[in-house]
Amino acid sequence: MKISVIGCGYLGAVHASSLAKLGHEVVGIDIDQVKVDSLASAHAPFYEPGLPELLAETLAAGTLEFTTDMSRAQGATVHFIAVGTPQQEDSNAADLRFVEAALDAIVPYLTPGDVVVGKSTVPVGTAERLAVQIEAVGAQLAWNPEFLREGYAVKDTISPDRLVYGVRSGDEHSVALLDEVYASVLAQGIPRVITDFATAELVKVAANAFLATKISFINAMAEVAEVTGADVTQLADAIGYDQRIGRRFLNAGLGFGGGCLPKDIRGFMARASELGAGDALNFLGEVDAINLRRRERMVDLCREVLGGTIEGARVAVLGLAFKPDSDDVRDSPALDVAARLAELGADVRATDPQAIETSRRLRPGLNYVDSAREAAKDADVVLVLTEWREYRAIDPSELDSVVSVRAILDGRNCLDPVQWREAGWTYRALGRP
Ligand code: UGA
Repeated sequence: MKISVIGCGYLGAVHASSLAKLGHEVVGIDIDQVKVDSLASAHAPFYEPGLPELLAETLAAGTLEFTTDMSRAQGATVHFIAVGTPQQEDSNAADLRFVEAALDAIVPYLTPGDVVVGKSTVPVGTAERLAVQIEAVGAQLAWNPEFLREGYAVKDTISPDRLVYGVRSGDEHSVALLDEVYASVLAQGIPRVITDFATAELVKVAANAFLATKISFINAMAEVAEVTGADVTQLADAIGYDQRIGRRFLNAGLGFGGGCLPKDIRGFMARASELGAGDALNFLGEVDAINLRRRERMVDLCREVLGGTIEGARVAVLGLAFKPDSDDVRDSPALDVAARLAELGADVRATDPQAIETSRRLRPGLNYVDSAREAAKDADVVLVLTEWREYRAIDPSELDSVVSVRAILDGRNCLDPVQWREAGWTYRALGRP
């Protein structure tokens, strides 16, 4: 099938190359020439395991190409809209400018019978509003939200937990075309939900709101654990054995960040308020507040371990990305804590296996170094803020002779306290005695 993917950022680049891998002929279109050139030479402009190999394979096979020329969408039957919907600068609502611009750009190249498929995360009601423009030229609109996780994006696209098609009632044509697009996904027995526009839009934000709530729930328990001497990691294990609760996404620590969860819960609240249903989502304000409090708590813990004064202390920060296997630092709790400590006068030396360049763009004033060992040199305290495999595997003996004071703060509950304490270190973590 001939498919166009408009917007070749994180979502679009992965989607386009995954569809090419699934056997389609795909053209990825983006207005950013630098991004297009990079993708066309099989270089992902961001770190995503497996993506460079997938790009190389599908580009070489001739089933994938990238261009800035929108007219190349002509001839494709299905057109995916995969542009970003960031938070507006002056409010919590989502900024739909890129979605609207993408639609304006594709409409002149549509032929009757084509289907435009929205993948971007949008406020409920958007598809209904945008459909008019598409239907006016005899094409159809469908909404097919994306659930991929950074770090697992290719796997989540080729083998997702479910597919959701939001279509106009009775629009069997769009369903049939989407079934053809995802034929090899459906052949794996992956469930698909066919529904209306509003439900499809809501599924996406509801899923992210649930995940954010689950994380903030366990972080709220961490707050209580901190004043009672309880251990939140054991609490999570124990409640997680209840299959109705489940252990996944119950890792207490610095909380959630990234380009999705924080902006999606805020955008969801903003949209619900516009619709007069703001009360239903008031709890998400609390979810957001609990999440942000964890960063403050980490700074307080650091101050405590440093004997009350952050100013002038040498602080090693291991991890800047919002989570491991990603170079994304959008709303990253780790980068935020590093920056706060620097603002309070600490001599921060920060490192990350992938996110130094992205961090530098956002926080050029921080001091970045290449390795954990370098960061830890003469440190008064070492902070692990992103649970990269290589940080989880650090043996205390690797840092013993490097640091000035043997003190480690585990912001992600990813280290073994016994191992560190037995090696003579002060070990502190969020939600643990
Ligand atoms: C999230 C969702 O998980 C995807 O399903 C969704 O498609 C995506 O947003 C999106 O809307 O595009 P992602 O932002 O890649 O994916 O990251 P997650 O794996 O969900 O992690 C989010 C944050 O929560 C990270 O900062 C992570 O460190 C934190 N987290 C996660 C915890 O603090 N504790 C946990 O137990 C799990």
